[in-house]
Amino acid sequence: MNYASSRLTPVKPSASAAVSQLAKSLVAAGEDVIDLGLGEPDFQTPKHIIEAAHQAALSGQTKYPPTDGTAELKDAIVGKLKRENQLDYSQAEVFVSNGAKQVIFAAFMATLEPEQEVLLCAPFFDSYKNICLVLGAQPKFLACKASNKFKLTPAVLEAAITPKTRWVLLNAPSNPAGAVYSTEELQALGEVLARHPHVLLMSDEIYEHILFDGANFVSFAASCPQLRDQTLVVNGVSKAYAMTGWRIGYCAGPQKLIAAMTKVQSQISSGACSIAQAAAAAALNGPQDEVRRFRAACEQRRNLIVQRVAAIPGLTLDPPAGAFYALIGCEALMGSRTPAGERIPDDNAFCQYLLNQGKVATVPGSTYGLSPFFRITTAASEEQLKRAMDRIEQCVTALVST
Ligand SMILES: Cc1ncc(COP(=O)(O)O)c(C=O)c1O
Repeated sequence: MNYASSRLTPVKPSASAAVSQLAKSLVAAGEDVIDLGLGEPDFQTPKHIIEAAHQAALSGQTKYPPTDGTAELKDAIVGKLKRENQLDYSQAEVFVSNGAKQVIFAAFMATLEPEQEVLLCAPFFDSYKNICLVLGAQPKFLACKASNKFKLTPAVLEAAITPKTRWVLLNAPSNPAGAVYSTEELQALGEVLARHPHVLLMSDEIYEHILFDGANFVSFAASCPQLRDQTLVVNGVSKAYAMTGWRIGYCAGPQKLIAAMTKVQSQISSGACSIAQAAAAAALNGPQDEVRRFRAACEQRRNLIVQRVAAIPGLTLDPPAGAFYALIGCEALMGSRTPAGERIPDDNAFCQYLLNQGKVATVPGSTYGLSPFFRITTAASEEQLKRAMDRIEQCVTALVST
């Protein structure tokens, strides 16, 4: 019996989650696998955040919350957007959901007609594509080349927009490439969008705190205030506060869009967990020193990976400007053979080889719409990263060019 509807036919489960699942099952079977597949911080949720959740449960915050978010969390988000991003939003322009992923789902569900287009900057977070496909919309991929630091240019954006375009997705710092835009670059993209008022821009800013080399984060919405009616700012607490399991994401945008998203959420989940929302409010309102420590650790690990990759002929990596991934180029290795004589035609085969031979779990660039690359997460201990790079180096050295 086929249980799945045809809507699910083109949809793929999350590749990084699948790689991680496979790595876990190999570890459970006694294999010494290093999992660099999944993107989550390797530290625990800070204690004051857990205590806020405890207090919320004890004080009776155990009933259905408001569908679009508790007043306490919305207030914290409004404060955060003002304090950190120089953005003025009211509570009615803010929406809370079960992770940024569900925010994106609700936004697309609320706004997309079948066949409408969503422009994705390749390499992209693979859920953007799969959410479009679930909804019968058309993801359209805009190649953002390594030579331009994986960034979208105004010319590429302008050329891609059609009357069917509904959304453009901008993610900075980006997963998987760590791309970051200057205010001027955001404004140049904004000028294109101003000429196409039927197009909405989603700015996924979930990695805003993981930014390197002393750079300050600039929100698209702050750079292009004239596009307020076309802009949805998406963010969440998963990455900055090591709260991936709490499932709280949020967004800010035009009130009518927020109302449509709330209608969607009222039929999906009736809102996000009240206790997790109290924890997220404590994260946004509380001390930020853990975030700063994590950012410094990520930068040190980024430097380590850049150094190690530079010493491996056949691999390339420009230092990522933010987020906790490295998207490593492996074009020179395509077509080579493994010691067992198997040909490596693409990055899928290369990642399979790294897993089989080197016992390192990585994700192929094809997942993110740009090949040949592979992604590793740098949110792992230095010791683990060093061991993984030793193994990757051995695997690459063992390849025979043809
Ligand atoms: C770019 C990007 N946006 C959104 C998300 C989803 O985050 P959340 O845990 O809040 O659903 C992720 C998670 O990997 C991500 O990389």
